[in-house]
Amino acid sequence: MAQILGENLTLGYDGKAVLQGLNFTVEAGDYLCIVGENGSGKTTLMKTLLRLQPPLAGAIRFGDGLTRQDIGYLPQQTEVQRDFPALVREIVRSGFQGRCGLRPFYTRAEKAEAERMLQKVGAADLAGRCYRELSGGQQQRVLLARALCAARRALLLDEPVTGLDPDAAAAMYDLIADLNAEGVTILMVTHDVGPALQAANRILHIGGSLFCGSREEYLQTGAGRRFARQEGAPA
Ligand SMILES: Nc1ncnc2c1ncn2[C@@H]1O[C@H](COP(=O)(O)OP(=O)(O)O)[C@@H](O)[C@H]1O
Ligand SMILES: [Mg+2]
Repeated sequence: MAQILGENLTLGYDGKAVLQGLNFTVEAGDYLCIVGENGSGKTTLMKTLLRLQPPLAGAIRFGDGLTRQDIGYLPQQTEVQRDFPALVREIVRSGFQGRCGLRPFYTRAEKAEAERMLQKVGAADLAGRCYRELSGGQQQRVLLARALCAARRALLLDEPVTGLDPDAAAAMYDLIADLNAEGVTILMVTHDVGPALQAANRILHIGGSLFCGSREEYLQTGAGRRFARQEGAPA
């Protein structure tokens, strides 16, 4: 079966639906781009995938031996979070917290792994810096390293380039594409549909009409054609 399967999902809060009738599949190694207007439920879907909240109806199933512990997460950032007063090194290591249990320290292997992940995202030189003093692009790299410490089979990325300048956004997309090429399954929420359409092999469109399929199929839909025209994406 697929690595991640959404079946007849209704998502929402306090019994009130935000999104209904959602079906999708993600295969190992896919790069799925999740698009939809503000408030359509993209972040809610991420939280449901992470089992942080239950669906109101339907189910999310994992296949291919995937578990929740195999999924790393880069949350959508708020201003408050950007001002977090901690060292970069500590933030990256905190990716291991889900595996530490009650152990109040990081092992030597975990510390070494955290440094390796910082290196992987091109941010090794930032380890001793204070997170709140970094640029938006540097902060997102640090959070990507943190997510990679948590897990590496699948990554959920919620608006990873929002607020970044074009160069920093392009660098972030390159990193994500490299990880995907290494076999990491990517589920990425973005507003930035043009570049996303180039990188992703599958698109999930939510809000208004629902669609889940290949990039090529998406570009044949009304929403896909509209996005492609707006963004100058490849037809
Ligand atoms: N904790 C919450 N409690 C109640 N409603 C929420 C909560 N979080 C989000 N919502 C509502 O759910 C809808 C979808 O939100 P969200 O998933 O954040 O959208 P998106 O990420 O697509 O912009 C919005 O109408 C939002 O106001
Ligand atoms: Mg959101």
